[in-house]
Order: sequence, then C-alpha cells, then structure tokens
Amino acid sequence: MSKLTLGVLASGSGSNFQSIIDKTESGYLDADIAVLISDNPKAFALERARNHNIESLVLRPKDFDNKSSYYAHIADELKKRGVSLVILAGFMRVVKKELIQEFPNKIMNIHPALLPSFPGLHGQKQAADYGVKIAGCTVHFVDEGVDTGPIIIQAAVPAYHDDTEETLGERILKEEHKIFPYAIKLFSEGKLSVEGQKVVMLGNKNNIVLHNPAQ
Ligand code: GRF
Repeated sequence: MSKLTLGVLASGSGSNFQSIIDKTESGYLDADIAVLISDNPKAFALERARNHNIESLVLRPKDFDNKSSYYAHIADELKKRGVSLVILAGFMRVVKKELIQEFPNKIMNIHPALLPSFPGLHGQKQAADYGVKIAGCTVHFVDEGVDTGPIIIQAAVPAYHDDTEETLGERILKEEHKIFPYAIKLFSEGKLSVEGQKVVMLGNKNNIVLHNPAQ
C-alpha cells in the first residue's frame, strides 16, 4: 500500500489529533498529515499543528453561504492536498454529503460511546447518566447519519456508579488514543473492507478488538 495522506478536522483540544501525530512521528503509522482544518479559531488543535509544522486552516461555516458550500470547500481543500483518508478528531459538526460523497468510506470518526448506544453529543454523559456498567468508544466510517456509519473498532471500559461525564470521559479518552491510530493503521494496510453496514477486518478471524474492562 502507498503511504497514506491524512487530512484532520478538529474543533477543540485535539488530544486525538495529538495521538495521531505522535504515532506518525514514531513510525507506527505510515502516514503524513497534510492539513488540519478547524471550524474554531480558538481550538487548541491549531496550536498542536503549529508545534509539529503541520499546515492548518480555519474554515468557519458562517463565512460561507450555506452548509453545502462549506463542505464542498472543505472537500476541495482536502483533495488539493492529495488527502486519501479524512479523520474527524473531535469535529463537533455533522458533516454533509458534499464532503462524504468525495470520500466514500474514507472518512473516520471517533465517538466516545459504544455505538449504536448514545450517539450525538455528550456520549460519556449519556452513558454515565444511564448507569451502564460498560462504556467505551467507537471508530466508524462516516455516512450521512449521526454516528451511524459502519463500525471499525470499539474499546470498552468499566463504568462505575459514581462516575461523572468527566471521570468516565477521561477513562474513555485513554482508549480513544489507542484505537483511533490503530484503525488508521488497519486502513493503511488495506485490512478494512466495508460490506454494507459491516466492516470486515481482513486477517482477524474474530473481527473484533475489545479491551477487557477488567484489565
Ligand atoms: C472525544 O471525546 C471524541 O470522542 C469526540 O470529541 C472528543 C474530542 O477530544 N468526538 P479531543 O479534541 O481529541 O481531545
């Protein structure tokens, strides 16, 4: 497989972005990060890009006529740079078809819950409030729904009765930092095949990667 060129979209802190930077710099991921695009000029992710000499762009929806032209523009910026996989690393928007259709099954998102439970915002809070005993995170390909695309990989963590959004979120985030780079690695090695709603992990008989909550 040829080297991957990543385009990352992030709205906030960018700790997942950082984990991907670290894994490209260490050689774990055979990938270049061509550009970081943020919708938020105050995103700390922009600082992380600067610290690692990664080009960054701030593109705000309010500077465009409508969502269609916004996402068409993002798609153009990514294509211009030869991006082969788009990474939504805490991009707090529902991306539209103008972007998705240009990168079919080539956009990955990380969600802080075990989908299909708790889609949308504040997955960690939803899980803590619900009282689940096992929580976790999901990396999935992006389709036009909200957190509905084919699931690539999930990691589980225990959830305790006194967990808050923050305590549970912290436990989940540690796993996010492991499984997101791993999903990208699998993609870069050509090991992910999408069959309808399912992702088949070639060479993995059980087609599952779960972290044991007891560990
Ligand atoms: C993470 O919880 C991720 O699951 C969600 O947004 C958050 C981003 O965190 N999509 P960070 O900006 O990567 O630190």
